[in-house]
Amino acid sequence: MTQSYRITLLPGDGIGPEIMAVAVDVMKVIGRQLDISWEFSEALIGGAAIDATGAPLPDETLEKCRVSDAVLLAAIGGYKWDNLPRHQRPETGLLGLRAGLGLFANLRPATILPQLIDASSLKREVVEGVDIMVVRELTGGIYFGQPKGVFTTETGQKRGVNTMAYTEAEIDRIARVAFETARKRGGKVCSVDKANVLEVSQLWRDRLIEVAADYPNVELSHLYVDNAAMQLLRAPKQFDTIVTGNLFGDILSDAAAMLTGSIGMLPSASLGDSGPGVFEPVHGSAPDIAGQDKANPLAQVLSVAMMLRYGLNQATAADRIEQAVLRVLDQGDRTGDIMSEGMNLLGCQAMGEALIKALANV
Ligand code: IPM
Ligand code: MG
Repeated sequence: MTQSYRITLLPGDGIGPEIMAVAVDVMKVIGRQLDISWEFSEALIGGAAIDATGAPLPDETLEKCRVSDAVLLAAIGGYKWDNLPRHQRPETGLLGLRAGLGLFANLRPATILPQLIDASSLKREVVEGVDIMVVRELTGGIYFGQPKGVFTTETGQKRGVNTMAYTEAEIDRIARVAFETARKRGGKVCSVDKANVLEVSQLWRDRLIEVAADYPNVELSHLYVDNAAMQLLRAPKQFDTIVTGNLFGDILSDAAAMLTGSIGMLPSASLGDSGPGVFEPVHGSAPDIAGQDKANPLAQVLSVAMMLRYGLNQATAADRIEQAVLRVLDQGDRTGDIMSEGMNLLGCQAMGEALIKALANV
């Protein structure tokens, strides 16, 4: 029987529309192959939404997302909107989407593919075999804590404030996601905090230890965030699942991404307790190469695979897409960001065509 899904597409800004077009083509092909039918609905977010409506997350967009089975997002932001007041910035739209859909858990895998080891800036022996899942808390911490703002003090000085805050409940639920994730992987959780300085981190650590009691088969360790950043570069293979707060997760997931050679390869899933998840590449909108057919669409396509696996329970379709990506890499097809000597340099569209061909044969 045909399985039908309503998918909201949010192409956003910069290279977003180009990589989204490739992802949609891939979805159509996999749909035909596996009897999945897609009901696509496109909506505005980020700079594109600001230009059209004045707001980075129009109500209509959030509503469309709410009633869909999953949301596929490309990227938001660009120089053009960098100087607008904060409530009108593209980033504010993205944060509103995460909060509006209750997406507290952000899964960011950093897996090094054998085909791309030489694209990493680190030595082969350091990165070969790296397979890390960063579980980042996404709707709390300093991104959302109150008070926040720029206030004027009694002496007339401006003072900028953000607040890093977590409740027990917020920590416990992301801890559970991490332990559940680790259980299906290497069975190790490393919790990253700054408990030597921050009270909020001490609570984080205490809760992690408490929740860990329910997962006797998962090994829990702790690192301070500065050390974790160093260890990621020094010996990344020691990590299996990393769980951390919103800001530390933002930073460490970029660092972990780079171990794999290019952030252009990495997908992510943002999930809540129920309702649709948002699936998006970890990379941004790359305004410097937008519209030039140079973008790497693979992270977007791998985000479709994550959507199928984590959002729609269609593991076979996810596997096939991931295999198609490996196939094109095996053939030597590369976009500029992962190019190395002797490989075939392709643009975004041509990479999409190569994927479609590969899908026919996996
Ligand atoms: C990310 C991005 C976002 C974040 C920005 C664009 C708001 O850097 O998804 O990692 O900081 O979460
Ligand atoms: Mg980031």
